[in-house]
Amino acid sequence: MKTLISSDVRLLADLIRKGGVVVFPTETVFGIGASSFNEEACKRIYKIKGRPSDNPLIAHFSSIESIKSVCEVSEIAERLLLTFSPGPITLVLPKKNPIVFPKELPTLGVRIPKNPIIREWIEECGSPISAPSANLSGRPSLTRMSDALRYFDGVVDGILVAEEPKLGIESTVVGLYEDPPVLLRPGSIESNDLKRFLPNLVMPNSVTERGEFVPPSPGMKYKHYSPKANVKLLPSEKFLSEFRKCMYDSKTAWIGFSYVLNPSPGDESLEFDPTRMKFVSSNWEYSSALYAFFEFCDQIGIHTIYCEEPKEGEGKEGLLNRLQKASEDN
Ligand code: TXA
Ligand code: MG
Repeated sequence: MKTLISSDVRLLADLIRKGGVVVFPTETVFGIGASSFNEEACKRIYKIKGRPSDNPLIAHFSSIESIKSVCEVSEIAERLLLTFSPGPITLVLPKKNPIVFPKELPTLGVRIPKNPIIREWIEECGSPISAPSANLSGRPSLTRMSDALRYFDGVVDGILVAEEPKLGIESTVVGLYEDPPVLLRPGSIESNDLKRFLPNLVMPNSVTERGEFVPPSPGMKYKHYSPKANVKLLPSEKFLSEFRKCMYDSKTAWIGFSYVLNPSPGDESLEFDPTRMKFVSSNWEYSSALYAFFEFCDQIGIHTIYCEEPKEGEGKEGLLNRLQKASEDN
């Protein structure tokens, strides 16, 4: 398939109106989208990703008004949208227009991306854009244009060229379709930010009294965000001791806080391939770099990626969740 790679929002909107599938960057991660009113096009996304068919897509909008045309927006939902949108938050709301994909579901995840160019494109498409993260199902989301091109050039109808994702992890997902509201996926907008508006916000109570696992959000039951390499999530001290032991093994890679890893000046013993290690100075920088680093490690055939635990405080919640998911079963 010939893929149109362009920053021209009109051309890319044309493709969507004709039933095409387009990969596009958002402030969180890349998305792979189609018109929410075109069931066939939306179903193609599942085929391309290998996504389980019971995992619904969220819809991307250009404005709060356009969300109101397809969902019930309660007073509190509107306050959240006014406070955190455009931005990295997805609200799952009761749906009022049944033609929006997925038709059979009474709820819809809605999100307004931050980049005005992306909103202009959505506006131009004339419909909401249903889009999961652009990645193969179960693998880390993509955050670099070069990675998006490698995976999707020749596979989708178009790739919209615009600013690359900065936040690096997927949006916070909040379920507002029942009381109490529930945090379905942690992200850059953290539970403390949300609790100012939703004091009764609950983390998903996913284990019933009989011990069954009942995922409140379909996406939660699938393995997620894992590179091919093994991911080991370690507290700082353990991370440092492993680093000292294994750093010369060319099949290992390291991501953590520079103050732990920085060799002291003049310590020549620490000379080795710097591309296998990524220094960060905050949880935000860590999130921003994480998936691109995973992707890079897979490209160069790394076997084990050692990740230092995030620091206490801002930016920890979403990052720790992704690191835990990536390191499950390792
Ligand atoms: O940052 C993001 O949210 C990115 C960009 C492209 O916007 N999108 C994204 O989509 O991460 P996806 O499909 O990979 O993750 C959406 C999550 C999934 O875990 C899905 O199960 C959940 O939201 N979800 C979607 N619709 C839902 C619904 N109606 N009820 C409950 N959970 C829902
Ligand atoms: Mg995803």
